[in-house]
Amino acid sequence: MITPVGEQMAREIAEQPPALSRLLHDTAQVREVARRIREARPRFVVLAARGTSDHAALYAKYLIEISLGLPVGLASPSTLTVYGARPHLNDVLWVAVSQSGGSPDLVRSTETARACGALTVAVTNAPDSPLAAAAELGVDVLAGPERAVAATKTYTSQLLALWLLVDHWRGGDGRTAAGLPDHVGSALDTPGIDGLASRLRFAPSLICTARGYSYPTAREAALKLMETSYVAAQAFSGADLLHGPLALVDADRPVLAVVGPGDGGRAMAPTLERLAAQRAELTVIGDPAGVPDVHTVVPLPADIPEELSPIVEIVPLQRLAHRLAVTRQHDPDAPRGLAKVTSTI
Ligand code: M6R
Repeated sequence: MITPVGEQMAREIAEQPPALSRLLHDTAQVREVARRIREARPRFVVLAARGTSDHAALYAKYLIEISLGLPVGLASPSTLTVYGARPHLNDVLWVAVSQSGGSPDLVRSTETARACGALTVAVTNAPDSPLAAAAELGVDVLAGPERAVAATKTYTSQLLALWLLVDHWRGGDGRTAAGLPDHVGSALDTPGIDGLASRLRFAPSLICTARGYSYPTAREAALKLMETSYVAAQAFSGADLLHGPLALVDADRPVLAVVGPGDGGRAMAPTLERLAAQRAELTVIGDPAGVPDVHTVVPLPADIPEELSPIVEIVPLQRLAHRLAVTRQHDPDAPRGLAKVTSTI
């Protein structure tokens, strides 16, 4: 039997609502890990991850810094694995995020972090993985098997697992997220994705931008577009974009701007105005809030708390990456040169 091109990725994108429901209904493990973290009273958090998982880690950085007031750093695993650094990590919470639990540098750096005194937590989709064994505590993101090289459902499940972990850590009960599977279900039906893919069909490069909680979405969208559609997609925060990369923007380099709800979305206003003034070919995912010259608007479901919006707003962009790959006659299930688990030290 011949399977249609990109069928695996399309199926895994569509599986997100039930995957998220599973996680929302099975919170015993998250609650226990949150209890252990509260007991340990860490003063600093380090998040370690690669690729898509690194974008989930960046989301957790925003969440922890904003809602718990703790400083968070994103690890460079090579300081431990390549250079052999042995930092003092007492009072540090080390959270390694990996769908496969098999990225060797994460396993080794987590072993080292644990030996150096950190409380270590593995957030994975593989509870029997080497990473889960290396860490003291584990959260299974319960996304179910993911076979497409491009991570989709494991990403949104990582985001929700991290949100649940932080919510229980700060004394919440996780119920704010109850409507999320329905919102993600609506985002699966977002209109206009095929038309947008046709418009971007011949674009050799593009820019993704967003601020705050949505910035990881811009980065993840750029990665998805690069690995499935071979478009040179670069992500910049809406603030950083104005500090130089704006000069790249012209009519031949489309811009995808994610404008989430709340403070982060509002902080995009000056960036959108500058892009419009530069006659960018601008697509807004979310609400363009009165900015003229927006070529395309991809609406997002309304009434999602800002903290949770990244779990919804990535979905139309995953669909775009899939659609653009197929439109350009690439198979997003088999990106050239890539494997599901990447071996770096
Ligand atoms: O299994 P991991 O989450 O540790 O993998 C990390 C990256 O290799 C992975 O996210 C990669 O970037 C994917 N191809 C992204 O879709």
